[in-house]
Amino acid sequence: MKFVVGNFKSNKTRTEYESWIDIFEQYSAGFPPDVIRVVLCPSSPSLMFVSNRLLDRQKHPSTYVGIQDISPYPAGAYTGAVSNRNVDGFHVHYAIVGHSERRSHFHETNSDVANKVREAITAQITPIVCVTASTVLSQANAIDAEYRNKVIVAFEPIEHIGTGETDTMDHILEVKKAVVSSFGAVHYLYGGSVDTHTDTNLLRHPEIDGFLVGSATLDASQFVELIQRIGPHSHF
Ligand code: PGA
Repeated sequence: MKFVVGNFKSNKTRTEYESWIDIFEQYSAGFPPDVIRVVLCPSSPSLMFVSNRLLDRQKHPSTYVGIQDISPYPAGAYTGAVSNRNVDGFHVHYAIVGHSERRSHFHETNSDVANKVREAITAQITPIVCVTASTVLSQANAIDAEYRNKVIVAFEPIEHIGTGETDTMDHILEVKKAVVSSFGAVHYLYGGSVDTHTDTNLLRHPEIDGFLVGSATLDASQFVELIQRIGPHSHF
């Protein structure tokens, strides 16, 4: 099964999400759950709306909701933070944590990310931990051993995010080895300029469990086309 995680970042208005889902749902009933798992990660204010639109499992058998970040603290006096308790009832199954944009613009450390992993897992939310080649080991070590192999890891080389050029297959597979030896046998995703032009050898490589997608998420038709390229054609 391949994950296709769509990260909308802080881009869309509520009305734009509405139009996006209008297009997406014309296709999503046809994404086979044993082949594809789509995870849509809207910004928090649109979480309720997006989650409600995806409730019908007949229409959306393969699509789940994720959040783009989660508070490293439990519920309480942390103004502005979105805790695991805040998202209870919104059918959130996944949380992206430690994205490089959070690390650079919001100064998040490996230890913050480790706390987010704990907060997610204690609420039965699977964290998608973003790492670079140089932070795989330090990030794994910062996470409690009991949680370390319960995460999904996304290798996201900063120099390939939003640049239009993916990393090489050799490097992606080399980093996978480091991920497996430091985290354990976790699902391994790649992120960085994945779009409809990405080589299908990468999109369908059996060693890569899926993709974290930024820019190519924003246009619903493009995102659907990407999903169709990732899944074996016979399935659509
Ligand atoms: P991109 O972003 O697909 O636009 O390169 C990926 C990411 O930031 O996760």
